Amino acid sequence: MEVKTSLLDNMIGVGDMVLLEPLNEDSFIMNLRNRFDHNEIYTYIGSVVISMNPYRSLPIYTPQKVEEYRNRNFYELSPHIYALADEAYRSLRDQDKDQCILITGESGAGKTEASKLVMSYVAAVCGKGQEVNKVKEQLLQSNPVLEAFGNAKTMRNDNSSRFGKYMDIEFDFKGDPLGGVISNYLLEKSRVCKQPRGERNFHIFYQLLSGASDDTLVKLKLDRDFSKYNYLSLDSANVNGLDDAASFRTVRNAMQIVGFMEAEVQSVLELVAAVLKLGNIEFKPESRVNGFDESRVKDKNDLKEMCELLGIEQSVLERAFSYRTVEAKMEKMSTTLNVAQAYYARDALAKNLYSRLFSWLVTRINESIKAQAKTRHKVMGVLDIYGFEIFEEGDNSFEQFIINYCNEKLQQIFIELTLREEQEEYIREDIEWTNIEYFNNAVICDLIENNQNGILAMLDEECLRPGTVTDDTFLDKLNTICAEHQHFESRLNKNSKFLTDHSLPHSCFRIQHYAGKVLYRVEGFVDKNNDLLYRDLSQAMYKATHSLMRQLFPEGNPAKVNLKRPPTAGFQFKASVGVLMKNLQTKNPNYIRCIKPNDKKVAHIFTDSLVCHQVRYLGLVENVRVRRAGYAFRQPYESCLERYKMLCKKTWPHWRGPARDGVEVLLTDCSVPTEEFAYGRSKIFIRNPRTLFTLEERRRACLEDLATLIQKIYRGWKSRTHFLLLKKSQVVVAAWYRRYAQQNKYQKIKSATLVMQSFIRGWKARNILRQLKYEKRCKEAVTTIAAYWHGTQVRREYRKFFRANAGKKIYDFTIQRIMQKYFLGLKTTTMSPMDNSWPAKPYGFLEGAHTQLRRIFHLWRCKKYRGQFTEEKKAVYEEKLEASEIFKDKKALYPSSVSQPFKGDYLEIQKNPKYQKLNSAMEEKVLLADLVNKINRANGKGSPRLFLLTKSNFVLADQKTGQVKASVPLPDLASVSVSTQSDGFFALKLKEGSASASKGDFLLSSEHLIEIITKLHRIGTTAADRDQINIDISDEFLVQFKQDKVCVKFIQGGPKNGNSAACKRKNNRLLEVSVPSP
Ligand SMILES: Nc1ncnc2c1ncn2[C@@H]1O[C@H](COP(=O)(O)OP(=O)(O)OP(=O)(O)O)[C@@H](O)[C@H]1O
Ligand SMILES: [Mg+2]
Repeated sequence: MEVKTSLLDNMIGVGDMVLLEPLNEDSFIMNLRNRFDHNEIYTYIGSVVISMNPYRSLPIYTPQKVEEYRNRNFYELSPHIYALADEAYRSLRDQDKDQCILITGESGAGKTEASKLVMSYVAAVCGKGQEVNKVKEQLLQSNPVLEAFGNAKTMRNDNSSRFGKYMDIEFDFKGDPLGGVISNYLLEKSRVCKQPRGERNFHIFYQLLSGASDDTLVKLKLDRDFSKYNYLSLDSANVNGLDDAASFRTVRNAMQIVGFMEAEVQSVLELVAAVLKLGNIEFKPESRVNGFDESRVKDKNDLKEMCELLGIEQSVLERAFSYRTVEAKMEKMSTTLNVAQAYYARDALAKNLYSRLFSWLVTRINESIKAQAKTRHKVMGVLDIYGFEIFEEGDNSFEQFIINYCNEKLQQIFIELTLREEQEEYIREDIEWTNIEYFNNAVICDLIENNQNGILAMLDEECLRPGTVTDDTFLDKLNTICAEHQHFESRLNKNSKFLTDHSLPHSCFRIQHYAGKVLYRVEGFVDKNNDLLYRDLSQAMYKATHSLMRQLFPEGNPAKVNLKRPPTAGFQFKASVGVLMKNLQTKNPNYIRCIKPNDKKVAHIFTDSLVCHQVRYLGLVENVRVRRAGYAFRQPYESCLERYKMLCKKTWPHWRGPARDGVEVLLTDCSVPTEEFAYGRSKIFIRNPRTLFTLEERRRACLEDLATLIQKIYRGWKSRTHFLLLKKSQVVVAAWYRRYAQQNKYQKIKSATLVMQSFIRGWKARNILRQLKYEKRCKEAVTTIAAYWHGTQVRREYRKFFRANAGKKIYDFTIQRIMQKYFLGLKTTTMSPMDNSWPAKPYGFLEGAHTQLRRIFHLWRCKKYRGQFTEEKKAVYEEKLEASEIFKDKKALYPSSVSQPFKGDYLEIQKNPKYQKLNSAMEEKVLLADLVNKINRANGKGSPRLFLLTKSNFVLADQKTGQVKASVPLPDLASVSVSTQSDGFFALKLKEGSASASKGDFLLSSEHLIEIITKLHRIGTTAADRDQINIDISDEFLVQFKQDKVCVKFIQGGPKNGNSAACKRKNNRLLEVSVPSP
């Protein structure tokens, strides 16, 4: 955001008209227009604010703006109403000066808006806190209430204030608001009954009908339709941009905040409804015997409803509209009212009722907002009074006269106070005062208010005069008394210079107000000034049960009948204006002069002629002239020096001495002509705006130079700083780099050194090692040589002492010792021939002896073992040995026979008596007796037979009988055939041609096959007379059965055959023996 330090910065046109050059009306208006076009609606004339109505909302009233203007000097920022409000508030708070803010201007110029802006600004900047906020809120919320009842849409303004308002806001010493007092001035009550074309009645009527709930309307006996009410003008009932219903809600809310009780609000609304009802009461004439017409209420419905609403007896009110009681000298007379009088009475009642209700509202608000604490307080008054009003075509009446009178007074106080203030400042500052010509409107005020011959006094006189008094008699009186007055114009005056002025009708008079000529129609002046309400009516009102109504018409109390006439409206107004003026004079004035830019109530249009007119009658150009009288511009020394000190080397950048001296030095240095300025006590006064502008221009140029200088210095500083930073950084970078490089280099050197060192150390160590080894070898060689040498020496010396065989002896001894040890070691072996263990040989040279010894020892051990045997046992072993020789590794049956001892006689033939006979038949000793099976050739089945073997023959005998079946001498036996397998079959083949051969060979089987065959073989071996018996071992052999040879074939059979071999006849020539597989 741009920071402003003076109003002179970035001005559009000039912000203060005092600086206008050249100063004339055109340039003044041009400046206003220029600023208006740039949305600058505020312009100063010194400390006066001119405000142009923008007719649209501008973004210049935000909380940020409030902050911007808060606690700033008046000329510090561009012109704003906030600057004035801030100045007034600070001067009230800090300098303890009561303030008043006078807002003037035409109707629609923005006075009410300005007053609200001032109040809202003060509310925003003053203290905070729960209590304070409540007061603020009540003060602010009084506005909508009063506006609803006192404002109306007029031709000039959609929200025109139809009453004058002066509000005192009271503050404590800290500047916190305590409360307030509102004074109201003359409500334009005629509006209640009749509104000019295109205008409306007071807002509240429309708001009530649009915004109240149906319930409320029923209670108030009202209808929402505006057209039902005579008092409401219909042609402009709805106003663009006004939402009556919403406003009604705002008003009710505001009333609540201000502190109205719900019952009070209801009462107020009832009275408003009563006014509307009253307007609908109509009258009709009723002829009387005396020939006069008497008025009667036409349709009593509205009257009834109104009476119900207010609790009035209908007949009482009805009578009051038909009769009037006149009291004179303690006598009471009743006269009838005609229809016109009845209407007059009705309207008078409505106007009075409404205006009194309005005054009651003000009083009630005052009760709520009045300061609680009785401490001394400071006051800020805000005056928002109706603006100067001129109706076209001379439609101006008593109200306009009063309003314009009030404005006239305000203008006067403005002139007085501005001049006085200006003068006071000159005196205060010790500057010579030069008089200036300006129009003083005191003369017009005098015309109106003079107690002897003022217009108001005359009007009062007329009203009080006995006899027939009409508006015309009043005009006549004016014509005679005021004819000579330079500001009074009338045609009726015989000597009048206006006799031929046709713009001035006969029933009118014209006053040259400060703001222009206004033509007043005299009609209604007397009545309005009298403001008569028939006593019967006020008494009827007093009889109402509605308490607020009774309150409003206290004069209706029969107990307090006052025959004195009440003061006239004009008198009352004059008095209250007088009080107001006195009040204002005691305060420090602040002016806001509102100007309306066009008649169309629209934005962006600036009508030169209209503005020119306002500027003219507001005397703004004169105001500037007064302000510039002598000196156009003034400024405290400090701020002047601060602003221009760069123009002089001595004051730049600091001036050490007093500010005044500084300004003197500065102005001298700038060669400002001495007649162009004057030194006040605290301010420098500059005569001509041009001088100021020259200074400004030089300042601007100087600021540019300064800006360049600052830029230059800044850029230099920035570049230098940047350079220094770069340099510093470069040093740091270089240092780090060097460090890094040096570290690298050092590491390399270090590792190189280490390598070299290790090589040198290695080389040295190897040298030393070689040296040491050499020395060691030398030592060893010396020792060896010495040993040999000593040995030789010793041997040579001791040879003669050794015997020649000493060596052999030692040798023998050693061998003996070794052998001894060896033999002792052999002692561990056992005597069992089965034991295979034998100690390992201790020395290589014992190899042969060791093996031999082992063999010899074994043989010896066996011999020893054999030596223990008996002859029988020996024979058995011999048999076993023979069996081994025959069958070992040839027949599978053999291994199982090894462990079976050869018993020979299995039948115990000698002992068994069964075989007694057989035994005795045997000639020789039976070597073997056993039970065998003789295999039958026919079926291969075996039949048991006893087999006996002696030294010369074998015998087969019947098992049961012991009868010998066959006895074959052994020499007939040619050979024996057996299989290779584990069966017990054997064939005893007989020699062909022998005696025994006729029966054929025997195929037998026995469990003791091995023993039988061995024994047969042994007998053959030992018998000298016979050949050795051949033993065939083969799985296929031929057996001679009688004539046929049958082949016996052994096959490996399956397990199903059981454990024993089975013989089967296959065919005539083949017997098959299946042997179980092992
Ligand atoms: N500062 C402003 N910003 C925006 N609109 C404004 C401003 N001042 C006035 N207006 C507009 O102009 C209208 C008339 O203003 P205002 O009611 O203040 O006039 P007034 O001078 O009080 O007139 P009257 O004498 O009839 O009461 C306002 O309703 C509003 O629309
Ligand atoms: Mg207003």
